[in-house]
Amino acid sequence: LQRGAQIFTNYCLSCHSASGMRFNRLKDIGLTDEEIKKNLMFTTDNVGDVMLAAMNPKDAAKWFGAAPPDLTLIARSKGADYLYAYMRGFYKDPTRPNGWNNVVFDKVGMPHPLWEQQGVQAVEWDAKGQPVMVKDEHGELKPKLYWESTGAHSRRLPNGKVIQTEYDAYVRDLVNYLVYM
Ligand code: HEC
Repeated sequence: LQRGAQIFTNYCLSCHSASGMRFNRLKDIGLTDEEIKKNLMFTTDNVGDVMLAAMNPKDAAKWFGAAPPDLTLIARSKGADYLYAYMRGFYKDPTRPNGWNNVVFDKVGMPHPLWEQQGVQAVEWDAKGQPVMVKDEHGELKPKLYWESTGAHSRRLPNGKVIQTEYDAYVRDLVNYLVYM
């Protein structure tokens, strides 16, 4: 949960708020005021404050085409499994204004915030400039992805296969934190 809180405050609060969550409640998961102030607070000095986005929501809606939702209760509305799939589902898509798309949220307005950790997934394009689609394990058509590069939390084996276990654990911690909120 502590690592999840750190990922959340470092990589999500720039755009999203968690207006139902106060920084000092992170003491409930074992952090001290000192640690909270030093490592997790970038937009306020008051540990009693709620977590507000660095960005003005109106500007964000203008830049990304959609406003970043408040994330306090996002795990309750979307479910942990969805959030886990979402954070692992980003791929590079040059046809999108922000350069990203997502296998579980087509035409998403959010750029991948953790691409340096995950690496970059990309899609294959057919001769007509359409993404090559394959059936996933539920029989749904999904873009066929390949790894363009690996990130800090995944590795490529000599046979080209990408091991994502470390990134999966990283995202699991983040999603656990969202559930905790
Ligand atoms: C650069 C701004 C930005 C950052 C950073 C960012 N997001 Fe987002 N996020 C957005 C925008 C914009 C949307 C709305 C997307 C849409 O509706 O097309 C969104 C939507 C979402 C959604 C809702 C998805 C859905 O299915 O409705 C979740 C969950 C989410 N973000 C989680 C996160 C998490 C977790 C992080 C940190 C790891 C993060 N975001 C970082 C901009 C951002």
